[in-house]
Amino acid sequence: MSSGSRILCSQLRDKIMSAEEAAALIPTHVNIGMSGFTGAGYPKVTPTALAKRIMDANLAGNKFKIGVWTGASTAPELDGALAMVEGIELRLPYQSDPTCRKRINNGEMEYIDIHLSHVAQFVWFGFLGKLDIALIEVAGILEDGRLIPSSSVGNNKTWIDQADKVILEVNSWQSEKLEGMHDIYYGTKLPPDRLPIPIIRPNDRIGTPYFDCPPEKIIAIVETNSPDRNSPFKDPDADSKRIAGHLLEFLEHEVKKGRIPPNLLPLQSGVGNIANAVLAGLSEGPFEGLTAYTEVIQDGMLSMMLSGKLESASATAFSLSPAAIKEMNQNLDLYRDKIVLRPQEISNHPEVIRRLGCLAMNGLIEADIYGNVNSTHVMGTRIQNGIGGSGDFARNAYLSFFMTPSQAKGGAISSIVPMVSHVDHTEHDVQIIVTEQGLADLRGLSPKQRAKQIIENCAHPDYRPALRDYYRRSLELSPGKQTPHLLEEAFSWHLRYQRTGSMHA
Ligand code: COA
Repeated sequence: MSSGSRILCSQLRDKIMSAEEAAALIPTHVNIGMSGFTGAGYPKVTPTALAKRIMDANLAGNKFKIGVWTGASTAPELDGALAMVEGIELRLPYQSDPTCRKRINNGEMEYIDIHLSHVAQFVWFGFLGKLDIALIEVAGILEDGRLIPSSSVGNNKTWIDQADKVILEVNSWQSEKLEGMHDIYYGTKLPPDRLPIPIIRPNDRIGTPYFDCPPEKIIAIVETNSPDRNSPFKDPDADSKRIAGHLLEFLEHEVKKGRIPPNLLPLQSGVGNIANAVLAGLSEGPFEGLTAYTEVIQDGMLSMMLSGKLESASATAFSLSPAAIKEMNQNLDLYRDKIVLRPQEISNHPEVIRRLGCLAMNGLIEADIYGNVNSTHVMGTRIQNGIGGSGDFARNAYLSFFMTPSQAKGGAISSIVPMVSHVDHTEHDVQIIVTEQGLADLRGLSPKQRAKQIIENCAHPDYRPALRDYYRRSLELSPGKQTPHLLEEAFSWHLRYQRTGSMHA
């Protein structure tokens, strides 16, 4: 697309209006499919204008609430603004906003936490009810009405296809050079007519760079010039560096054993500072010719591309710091051939993840001595963020890693507990647990063998004696059981924390 106006389709020019006018077209109690994935590519101004409208309606005694469906987490201008005015009736499939989290945990809004690869098909199958409006940020509109995606793809194809009406935000802050980076696959059919997804290598392109959207569906176009929410990453702390060190040593060992090739297998890296530290470690490590088949592209991946370590990456969104986005926009010609952004049902598709043999690396809140993992709920009841794509990758990966510091809240909480207070990833989907203390390779181990590895290699030394004691007494009281537990004590650490502010006895 040449520079100048980003809206080249003359037929659509009369749909241009302000965010307030667009928000006025949204009635109460509708479900809106919004763009946005980890702070990239979300609509920047219409949700805020809608929040204002909701606030005014509520003040006038007219309850106004909507259902908000997205790709994943968004930003304060979307989740934050709408949650602040109590405008969200139901949220799905993932969030990480502090106000949203508070509202959900206060019972003020419903939240459905869904595997990210499942969302599109749940909508196609009709499991989630009617999608009324799609509100999508794009980087531009071509003469023939096709849309240039912006910095995330997420569920946008599905929202545009399934919604009755479409509102577009055309954001001229997004680089024009993003055009051509996306791969929007329109080949998915419903069972029983489904066909294989023809991705054999992470950077295979199987679709088109644009969204199709019937112009008659478009009811409003809002022009914006606003940056994505780009949070800077913290420099890796000592614990993150140790976690990265254990993981890299393990990968070297696997290469030596011939179980993975010298350039590894496609990397999937969860979001956050530990994941970024692992990428920094890989950047300095011995592996060359790497690839990624992942959900988001973080700073670490861009620097690995610049240094030549990472050959290509497939994802559904960027999640970059302000410095990294600036650098990327300056070098987009270089990155465009190396990066593919796909709809999230493809970036996270179990079939493709299994075929490629991804190395999945995700965070956890707590793990138990048998290797069950809780990624979502603090003390078993309070949602933190959601499962995101971790389940899509963990179950289908070639190797499934979960990483965490061994303690939280300054040592008051052990990340290794007798029994997890909520399960997202069962022992069957968790192969390797890594903390700053060490790494537990759980492959091929029975539950009792796993318990020893996890306690001795991963738990913090301050909690190890109590975990050993729990395990020993469990064995004594239930000799011969497959997975020994003291059911009366299994959650006593959580209860103690709630009572005293510490899991320590
Ligand atoms: N008990 C209570 N709170 C805990 C805890 C535990 N066992 N472990 C961590 N926490 C708290 C931390 O103290 C921190 O709280 P704060 O925000 O009040 O400071 C918060 O949880 C986040 O922990 P942090 O150590 O900063 O970890 P993180 O940013 O790496 O996030 C997850 C860890 C599990 C929350 C995060 O990885 C996640 O949401 N995972 C699920 C989704 C996912 O995996 N997505 C990627 C898939 S592609």
